[in-house]
Amino acid sequence: MENKNIYILAIESSCDDTSAAVLCNKKALSNIVATQKIHEEYGGVVPELASRAHQQNIVPVVHQALAKANIDKNQLSAIAFTRGPGLMGSLLVGTSFAKSLSLGLNIPLIEVNHMQAHILSHFIEDDTHKTPKFPFLAMTISGGHTQVVLVENYFKMEVIGESLDDAVGEAYDKSAKILGLPYPGGPLIDKYAQLGNPKAFPFPKPKVEGLNFSFSGLKTSILYFIQKETAKNPNFIAENLNDICASIQYTIINILMDKLKKAVKQTGIKQIAIGGGVSANSGIRKALEEAEIKHGWTAYIPKFEFCTDNAAMIGIVGYLKYMETEFSDQSVTAKARYIL
Ligand code: KG4
Ligand code: ZN
Repeated sequence: MENKNIYILAIESSCDDTSAAVLCNKKALSNIVATQKIHEEYGGVVPELASRAHQQNIVPVVHQALAKANIDKNQLSAIAFTRGPGLMGSLLVGTSFAKSLSLGLNIPLIEVNHMQAHILSHFIEDDTHKTPKFPFLAMTISGGHTQVVLVENYFKMEVIGESLDDAVGEAYDKSAKILGLPYPGGPLIDKYAQLGNPKAFPFPKPKVEGLNFSFSGLKTSILYFIQKETAKNPNFIAENLNDICASIQYTIINILMDKLKKAVKQTGIKQIAIGGGVSANSGIRKALEEAEIKHGWTAYIPKFEFCTDNAAMIGIVGYLKYMETEFSDQSVTAKARYIL
């Protein structure tokens, strides 16, 4: 295997993004993502519509990924795909496609855990990004996940905290919906938050033991607060949007940072790597920068294209497993609940 370039075609279809990437060793030659717009009008992902859209998107997305990488399918070394966790109907599309293609090309098939991929996205070769050193703490924050993971090496990881109910991105999106903002509302709350007073409206923080999170109570308290205030003043949201968003953001970032500080204290590890769509949030980025100075942490934030759901992160795990000859056979099936 020495000196030979390994080309991995990776497929991601766990939620509402259809993505394909080609990696040459640890470098992403292409990373194509087709985001499904159809869910916008429903205020969240509709599973049946997502799997239909994956079926429509998958062939063109794979073609584009190969074309952009300038790689012929006969040059591929292996096919990596997301086995889970995610929406069953969505996972089935990528899993079936990957299995068929590996059979047709007679090359190895590699199953990947989506949560492991979010964490290992930090190892995609990229001149602008420094790579975390083991052991480190990874916090994956997105519309589907909120986890703190102790990462000892590429394949040894332990979930030490996670949300008991809504994911943090869901808390953003549901709060945005209450405020009448379109889906996904996280980026909009972040935008308005930067113009408002974070202490204008205090929201209670949940009391959850250990390193676990809970966000459903916050959503309910925001709903009751907005209902109460709009009963008094129908223009309350419009007149206070920036302050409301800043207050929501302040509460959410405090919840995340409190648990991170606890995790650092508990493990003694000060290297923090974040991933998932909420890593784009200006509040968490600022809080991590402050913690670098104040507490001596080192924070790692991947490029945004590798933070949100994408196939390049599946490809890097595919490459690392390829080097260990960890292959799957054709009996492998999609797994909606797939623990790290
Ligand atoms: O990783 P991702 O693209 O998809 C999954 O959910 O797996 O994450 C999407 C989530 C959405 O909930 C979206 O509102 C949130 O990330 N998000 C943000 C920001 N950008 C995206 N939340 C807060 N602030 C942002 N700037
Ligand atoms: Zn994800």
